[in-house]
Amino acid sequence: MRILLGVTGGIAAYKAVLLLRLLREQGHAVRVIPTRAALEFVGAPTFEALSGEPVSTEVFDDVPGVQHVALGQGADLVIVAPATADFLARAAAGLADDLLTTTLLAARCPVVLAPAMHTEMWDHPATRANVATLRERGVHVIEPASGRLTGTDTGPGRLPDPEDIAREALSLVGAAQPEAEPGDLAGRRVVVSAGGTREAIDPVRFIGNRSSGRQGVALAQAAAARGADVTLVAANLAQDVTDQVVSGPRACAVVRVESTAELREAVRAAGADADVVVMAAAVADFRPAVTPDAKIKKVPGQGPAPIELVENPDILAELAHERLRPGQVVVGFAAETGDASGSVLEHGRAKARRKGADLIAVNAVGSGRGFGTDSNEVTLLDGAGDVVGQASGSKREVADALWDAVVKLLS
Ligand code: C5P
Repeated sequence: MRILLGVTGGIAAYKAVLLLRLLREQGHAVRVIPTRAALEFVGAPTFEALSGEPVSTEVFDDVPGVQHVALGQGADLVIVAPATADFLARAAAGLADDLLTTTLLAARCPVVLAPAMHTEMWDHPATRANVATLRERGVHVIEPASGRLTGTDTGPGRLPDPEDIAREALSLVGAAQPEAEPGDLAGRRVVVSAGGTREAIDPVRFIGNRSSGRQGVALAQAAAARGADVTLVAANLAQDVTDQVVSGPRACAVVRVESTAELREAVRAAGADADVVVMAAAVADFRPAVTPDAKIKKVPGQGPAPIELVENPDILAELAHERLRPGQVVVGFAAETGDASGSVLEHGRAKARRKGADLIAVNAVGSGRGFGTDSNEVTLLDGAGDVVGQASGSKREVADALWDAVVKLLS
């Protein structure tokens, strides 16, 4: 889901950082639009690093892109947290004097405002009237929490916890995180591989693939949230996915690898005492037979030198057939495109039988599907190739559906 997170200038702006992280972790694309005053409290680099998207406050930035219209039109949900008394007044009056207020007028999606201010300001007739106007227009205004305010004051006006804002806002658009079975992976050790391997041609070139690592990281974070002790074997993750791993609240042990050989070694080492191994990484099937120490030179007049390839070990098939530990559950992915010889599901079925894993998540890729996106759609097959489940939605939702199936196998 594409979310615009407006942040206005109150001390609670620091909590918007946690809300941003939470929404990103749940697999949503978030663009932050702070007001000038909000940037007095939290710097733009913080929002940029955690959202992976540019941050501007003015309509005069990126004029050719007509941002103030494009952002509003492209959003599935707008959340403004914290919303100050001044912002509520400007929104109620329909003012459009910065990027956030203009975007708000262009947005046709649900709008959720989470006010935060001192009790006196919240109770003031002007604020009450502005909130009433906004609610009449269909804007969802969350009631502030009661509690400690800035300084020693207490009372209504406190910004609710980021988890509560996210739940209330997302449930409005039917995208609330499904409540995972609390702790149903507690005490379990799991290994998840994510990203895509790179096979060196020479010291500067490699054969790689388009995997961002988003689905694997969502799997690792979902498992950690369900109580598992997680090792993430990360192969060349996209930068914003790496940021997500670093900023995630749940600890995962992270082992960084580059090639298939390194990934194999890391997965096998961590997998030796694991209850579950999930191979979500896109692993190169072939690697160059030799890798010279020096860069391969282009010789004028001579054509390109052929690159001889040799087959990589199939790590998933090895794990499935060997079982590093008795009873270990082994899960793989099959990214498929349909072709003349069969549909996505038929190819997935054949792969499930060949690999011998307990579960295979089959997804269609190509034409913008699967790679680098925030959502996914998978069919879960058992080792015999029979369909045992289906999941679609954010990569985190897909991850939770997969863990549900794993939990069944473990019990
Ligand atoms: O055969 P294919 O690459 O489509 O299979 C995908 C599944 O197998 C993924 O789970 C991937 O992590 C795993 N795989 C592997 N070793 C390879 C190739 C793929 O473990 N050499």
